[in-house]
Amino acid sequence: MSDFKSFVVAGAGHLGVFVIQELVKLKKAGKITSVVVFTRSNDSHEKILQLGAKPININYQNADQLAHALKGVDCFISTLTVSAIQFEKEIARACKAVDVRLFVPSEFGLPKVDHVGSKKDEVKKYIKEIKQPYAVFYTGAFTDMIFTPYAGFNWDEGKVSIGGSGDQPLSCTARPDIARYMAYVLTELPADDLENKIFCIEGERISFNAVCSGWEARTGRTLQITRIPRSVLEKEPPTNFGAHLLVEIDKGNGTVGPPEEINLYYPEWRPKKVLEVLLD
Ligand SMILES: NC(=O)c1ccc[n+]([C@@H]2O[C@H](COP(=O)([O-])OP(=O)(O)OC[C@H]3O[C@@H](n4cnc5c(N)ncnc54)[C@H](OP(=O)(O)O)[C@@H]3O)[C@@H](O)[C@H]2O)c1
Repeated sequence: MSDFKSFVVAGAGHLGVFVIQELVKLKKAGKITSVVVFTRSNDSHEKILQLGAKPININYQNADQLAHALKGVDCFISTLTVSAIQFEKEIARACKAVDVRLFVPSEFGLPKVDHVGSKKDEVKKYIKEIKQPYAVFYTGAFTDMIFTPYAGFNWDEGKVSIGGSGDQPLSCTARPDIARYMAYVLTELPADDLENKIFCIEGERISFNAVCSGWEARTGRTLQITRIPRSVLEKEPPTNFGAHLLVEIDKGNGTVGPPEEINLYYPEWRPKKVLEVLLD
């Protein structure tokens, strides 16, 4: 066991709320003692309190405030939004100064795919330089966010848009499963086994075409599928992350790693497969 007792999560957003929920469960079970959530303002307080955690307002550019808030903390987890990742350098510096034992940067995607202008790689380089112990989690696409009308999957209307061939594999993990996996390994693995480790996880490795044919088989309905060729997606500006992601998946960069290197540290983890998330 890591003996990490005191956790801070930064950002109660799309992913953060699930991570906070899992940590609060561990607190209620007496396994950990504290779940604090950093937020920029009072606006998020009610949500954080309802989750059962303690909100603390932070100005991420205030080094003294960060160091004070991180004192005595064992593990810091960032679930900050992509455009706020640059603040992780300031946070990591504060973690190092007050001996936070583990820093989890906001990754939670694919090792070879990132937003244009993202600071994720810069932050990882920095935490290594300052020798702040870290753990990184690659999760693939969030099943419960990608297979939605927003990303071209309108199941209710039976209309789906697939970028590229649709045959390449994609690592997919639902947010509750990501949170459960993280909370488990961060508390159950020895601290030495967590330090400077990369965790690659996936609920399922599956192609868009296989998801669609599985959905048709399960529902007995026929999907109206529109296909966008990779050559069309490649003409989109780099700021169009959705198009960029589809191109990278189509190039074979949609998985978190070789099958033998994934889901290694939580044998009882039973993540949901894509069709379970969509249909059950
Ligand atoms: N693999 C996937 O499919 C997938 C999908 C979505 C996201 N992700 C990744 O998951 C991570 C978390 O993303 P998310 O969508 O959960 O984030 P999010 O909900 O957009 O934002 C999380 C929190 O960040 C804080 N925040 C927002 N703007 C900020 C700013 N300018 N400065 C400081 N803090 C700010 C907010 O907290 P307060 O307002 O309380 O301060 C917000 O609740 C990211 O690394 C993202 O790339 C992956």
